[in-house]
Amino acid sequence: MRQGKFLETLGGTRFATPPIWLMRQAGRYLPEYRAVRATTRSFLDFCYTPDKAVEVTLQPIRRFGLDAAIIFSDILVVPDALGQKVWFEEGEGPKLEALTDPVQFGQLSRARLPDRLAPVYDAIRLTRAALPDDTALLGFAGAPFTLACYMIEGGSSRDFAKVKGWAYAHPESFALLIDLLVEAVVDHLTNQIEAGADAVQLFDSWAGVLPEEQLFSWSLDPLVRIAHAVRSRHPRTPIIAFPRAVGPAALMYRRPDAFAALSLDTGIGAHWAARELQPHICVQGNLDPLMLVAGGAAMEREATRILDKLAHGSFVFNLGHGVVPQTPPDHVAHLVDIVRNWKPSLS
Ligand code: CP3
Repeated sequence: MRQGKFLETLGGTRFATPPIWLMRQAGRYLPEYRAVRATTRSFLDFCYTPDKAVEVTLQPIRRFGLDAAIIFSDILVVPDALGQKVWFEEGEGPKLEALTDPVQFGQLSRARLPDRLAPVYDAIRLTRAALPDDTALLGFAGAPFTLACYMIEGGSSRDFAKVKGWAYAHPESFALLIDLLVEAVVDHLTNQIEAGADAVQLFDSWAGVLPEEQLFSWSLDPLVRIAHAVRSRHPRTPIIAFPRAVGPAALMYRRPDAFAALSLDTGIGAHWAARELQPHICVQGNLDPLMLVAGGAAMEREATRILDKLAHGSFVFNLGHGVVPQTPPDHVAHLVDIVRNWKPSLS
């Protein structure tokens, strides 16, 4: 079993200061990422070129010595591997040939997934071999509801009218899509663990658009089914759930039978999380990515406030969402310094 601050924290050990990694720690804010990115036009081809994916996964580890690396890939490789057309448009983000009819589900198939995503698993094998022993490697996948949002909206959305229209008016057919995605995500996470991922994170970035009842059916229940299936094969691999923007409904996700940790967005108060979540489950988060852009004394105050509230318990320092492209890399180095030098205040 691999050790190291991040994995041991998820296993229940406490250290003087918490481990730190950042969502989207590999990305456009790093000049060395932009240099490698510029060598491939298509973003998906870039994700499917193992030596490039390995290189950009390692870049933030070399620069900042973070406690965990996250494999460079994207959540939309799953719809791509199922046979849906996916592409990325410069400056516009992801585009998909939208699903408009349940008949189209029949054309999606898990059969091709292991072959299509083999480059991701190769990248994991190579990254694991190149990482320092005590640096954990995270695999990840999009949660079924978040993937369904992209698959039915055909890209990003402001109101999620299409996906909600489908889920509310035709729950039986929506359930078929969610079930297919549960199985595909279980396959993808299992393959990543077998290639060398030490832990995995499930990104439910759009969970927060659902009302409570639907949140249970379309976000929590599929995530728990995935976690139970993955754990039945790999009981010791920690699973982190990130149900973004769900507010106090985060209470439903306190499920130590499924998840080793809950990743918190910036909307959840550290004080509330310390009282309501942390006694039951390890938490991860939740500095505002724009505090990392601001940097300086403002960032130091806010990071210290979060540490004062959460670092006494089971805690992984992270952002509440991904690093944004305008982030000065020096601010990341400063943040790592703040976290590693934090001391509990005497008051
Ligand atoms: O460092 C890491 O965190 C690992 C790599 C990673 C990426 N995407 C790389 C990426 C991870 C974990 C993701 C997850 C992801 N992708 C999510 C869930 C997390 C979240 O942000 O809520 C979602 C919703 C996506 C879908 C996606 N991919 C969008 C909406 C975009 C466009 C947004 C943008 O910043 O342009 C992407 C593209 C993408 N994925 C980029 C990166 C570094 C930027 C594209 C580029 O470099 O050309």
